[in-house]
Amino acid sequence: MSDGSLTEVARLTEVAEWYREFVLYTRNVSPLYAELAEGVANDRDVLTLLLELPEQKRQPNLLFAAVRHVAGTPSDYAQFRSILFSRRETVVATMLARRTQTNEPGRCAAVYPLLAALPQPVALLEVGASAGLCLLPDRYAYEYNGVPAGAAQSPLMIPCRVEGVWTHPTTAVEVAWRAGIDVNPLSVTDPDDRRWLETLIWPGQDERVRRLDRALAVARHDPPRVVRGDLNERLADVAAEAPEHATLVVFHTSVLCYLSAADRQRFVEQVRRLGAHWISQEESGVAPSVTADLPELASDEDPMVVLALDGRAVALTAPHGGLIRWLEPADPSAS
Ligand SMILES: C[S@@+](CC[C@H](N)C(=O)[O-])C[C@H]1O[C@@H](n2cnc3c(N)ncnc32)[C@H](O)[C@@H]1O
Repeated sequence: MSDGSLTEVARLTEVAEWYREFVLYTRNVSPLYAELAEGVANDRDVLTLLLELPEQKRQPNLLFAAVRHVAGTPSDYAQFRSILFSRRETVVATMLARRTQTNEPGRCAAVYPLLAALPQPVALLEVGASAGLCLLPDRYAYEYNGVPAGAAQSPLMIPCRVEGVWTHPTTAVEVAWRAGIDVNPLSVTDPDDRRWLETLIWPGQDERVRRLDRALAVARHDPPRVVRGDLNERLADVAAEAPEHATLVVFHTSVLCYLSAADRQRFVEQVRRLGAHWISQEESGVAPSVTADLPELASDEDPMVVLALDGRAVALTAPHGGLIRWLEPADPSAS
């Protein structure tokens, strides 16, 4: 085997591993996506097709959403594969034109208690905001272990199970100003963007589709402002617009994984220089400075993401909301 083909095998294996990892994320919540991801991981033809795309375009969620956008939801792997190869050009064009921009308002349930604990009002700056649905945490209602919080009259109620020692939010979050930044802002009023947002939700997650519809209904009345641009390029000038009397909070959920390690580091340094509060909800490992020393998850457990305040991990959360597991407060006498 030549060096060239060895490299090819290594690259195929890397993409296959990405799809195997996606099986872990989906196996308990979207059996069809788990089946498709397992199928791709073992299918050299599909892996080869993926290798022809830029790295960021090889994501499982993007491939599966593109196929569904083009031809509806396949019933199984055989049908998925047949659509992919019979409509290859259209599927690939969709993957190149679109991005993984899942906008999940359920993630607000984890951010809300942290916001409520800060001096009010707050100025919210979300980077990687997609359509801006997570910029409206004050316009949704929540139930934490059945106990209400947030905007009681909201058409969207987000239930959330809570484990560990924590304080129920008793103060309402008051937002004085809000803005988002995204390389490709989606519009809450554009029918094609709305359809893409829905297609990004995994098959079988009907509750998430209902939640998206309700959040879009809330947002349509007064759409959040999302500025187009790279988060590192726009952070300082958009932050400068925030009113001085409000507590500036920069936050992001499921965004840093799309940045190179150097850009993540640059972003963290910029946020620290701003002197703003900083809330992040990201996969373990994407921001190593906030994920060190986390407890290992059992191998049969669903993956969790890390919720952090000002660079300190405070909880593990379910990737699309619904569960917060607060970490033990650090013992100051331990050091
Ligand atoms: C998976 S979505 C998450 C959206 C939203 N934060 C949520 O949790 O619902 C990631 C978003 O980050 C945006 N994004 C990725 N890289 C970016 C960058 N360098 N600058 C600005 N936005 C970026 C994408 O366009 C996308 O809308």
